[in-house]
Amino acid sequence: MSDNRWLHVAAHVESEYRRSKAAQPWDAVFSADYRWEHTLRVAHYGRLIAEGDGADRSLALAACLLHDVAYFSCPDEENWNDHGRIGARLSRPALSAAGYSEPEVARIAHAVAVHVDGKSDDGEPHTALDDIVSDADNVDRFSAYRVIAWCMTERDDFQKMADMLRERLARLYKYRTASPLETRTGRALFARQVDLQIAFFEALVHDAEITRLPSSDVLA
Ligand SMILES: [Fe+2]
Ligand SMILES: [Fe+2]
Repeated sequence: MSDNRWLHVAAHVESEYRRSKAAQPWDAVFSADYRWEHTLRVAHYGRLIAEGDGADRSLALAACLLHDVAYFSCPDEENWNDHGRIGARLSRPALSAAGYSEPEVARIAHAVAVHVDGKSDDGEPHTALDDIVSDADNVDRFSAYRVIAWCMTERDDFQKMADMLRERLARLYKYRTASPLETRTGRALFARQVDLQIAFFEALVHDAEITRLPSSDVLA
């Protein structure tokens, strides 16, 4: 029999997203839609990582779907550091209602709690699920779509955008040398994202560098 418990979790998170989108103002770029769409992609990557690394896909899907649910309850910046732990508390009733057992709820909630800064207040041990959620989140944080979001923040000043991207590239070169991810499949997915971002940002920085008149002796 197939395990459809994660679908109940998905329906819960989607209804939280729709309620939140209607109830409060959101950032123009990192909107409620962005957060929900990011959630869908993190669930996609979480399933791929669980499959590739031989972990439980139902737990991975549920944890990934819930990992940022706190944004839909308190989207303000002040709670950013705590959105994992707040999300874990909000997740427990939804997980129980979806049919996950108490030990499963504890594992999933812990993975949600620690995905931001590795800290939790639940006393639960670290499990492979924590790495799956964190890696899936990071794979999407380096997505092609995120490239657009990064560039949008400086869309009115191309040279400022290039400066921001030069800093970003320095970080990406480090990630290409030493992956910060933990799972085997996550590292492979992440490497692809990093290569994509490097190629595109290098091209943009090059565009910025040639956005000027040639030097006066160019035809000498
Ligand atoms: Fe998050
Ligand atoms: Fe996230």
